[in-house]
Amino acid sequence: MTRLNDNYLKLKAGYLFPEIAKRVKEFSKTNPEAKLIRLGIGDVTRPLAPAVIKAFHDGIDDLAKAETFHGYGPEQGYDWLINTIIEKAYLPLGVSLKTNEIFISDGSKCDSANILDIFDTSNKVAICDPVYPVYNDTNVMVGRSGEADEKGYYAGIVYMPCTEENHFTPAFPEQKVDLIYLCYPNNPTGTVATREQLKAWVDYATKNKAIILFDAAYEAFISEPGIPHSIYEIEGAKSCAIEFRSFSKTAGFTGVRCGLTVVPEELMAMTAGGEELSLNKLWNRRQGTKFNGVSYPVQKAAAAVYSDEGWAQVMETISYYMENAKVIKEGLANAGITCYGGVNAPYIWLKTPGGIGSWDFFNKLINECHVVGTPGSGFGPSGEGYFRLSAFGSQQNVAEAVNRIQKKWGK
Ligand code: MLT
Repeated sequence: MTRLNDNYLKLKAGYLFPEIAKRVKEFSKTNPEAKLIRLGIGDVTRPLAPAVIKAFHDGIDDLAKAETFHGYGPEQGYDWLINTIIEKAYLPLGVSLKTNEIFISDGSKCDSANILDIFDTSNKVAICDPVYPVYNDTNVMVGRSGEADEKGYYAGIVYMPCTEENHFTPAFPEQKVDLIYLCYPNNPTGTVATREQLKAWVDYATKNKAIILFDAAYEAFISEPGIPHSIYEIEGAKSCAIEFRSFSKTAGFTGVRCGLTVVPEELMAMTAGGEELSLNKLWNRRQGTKFNGVSYPVQKAAAAVYSDEGWAQVMETISYYMENAKVIKEGLANAGITCYGGVNAPYIWLKTPGGIGSWDFFNKLINECHVVGTPGSGFGPSGEGYFRLSAFGSQQNVAEAVNRIQKKWGK
């Protein structure tokens, strides 16, 4: 009989967010009158920026006429979008990139998983704990993890705990690793890395001939000056890092789908025979074979994000969400709940009141406040006793959720 991929059977639970959605659905079925407020998955709620919508419509109109019709586009994305990103998103940071170093995709979740295609399974991977579950689960799926212990740690993955004690900043792995996932601003803890901290990672990766997989999906939410928005702001990073970016949270594209991956030409990895080869070529080969590019109207819409008008509108929406983050953080602090994040990231990472378990708090919050969040333990064992609230709701709902939580836990 045909064999399935046994690695999938090593996965501990369903993927975190569908699992939460399932529980929420069950709750709603038995409590149809409950007015649920969803601050779980980081899904945007504000409409697309008007400039983006206009470009999206224009893109569709182009497809309606023979003279402007577009069939297959370049698998890597249209040059006009890539060059706009280079000019508007990277050059202002002092980062110069070539057109062939950026690959447009349908999102950074997909890319941070697909990138594993170009690395040998013998590579040792290090991930933070807690972590965006995609990094962990996809390494399990490709067969790099071995089995999990009772805590949920896989034998073949190196975990870097991020706890209150180390200010949610991971220490360097104690053993030799080849791939290191970093996400800044961080999902789920909402913390950021300073220039010095990122430089230390770049130096570490360079010295140890490791590659950093840098997820910058939330960079647009950085509000404090001096915090790097890209790992390439650090000298030497082009030789040791791949960066993922996303339009999902930046511009409300969670349902539209567009992201990008940067694979610099100078980034090398070794063949089985010991020869150093460019990963840019491999990723290009992978995309050319397995991907047909992002649709033309979506790329048109993505380019409009960087128009003066589009950027101003997008930043207004980000401010809206960050105001929510402030309301949640201050409101919970007033109720005596310890919170982190929420300043440079749209997530608030809170310590569960009374130290109750993350899933117990999930149940309490949904049952007693009708508020949905994400249990910290869903992001890894070190997330136990923590809980994540997302700032992507409407201001009205966020204020109401905070009110309900204060009523329940406030002094
Ligand atoms: C999250 O809530 O962590 C994210 O929305 C999930 C994602 O971006 O895939």
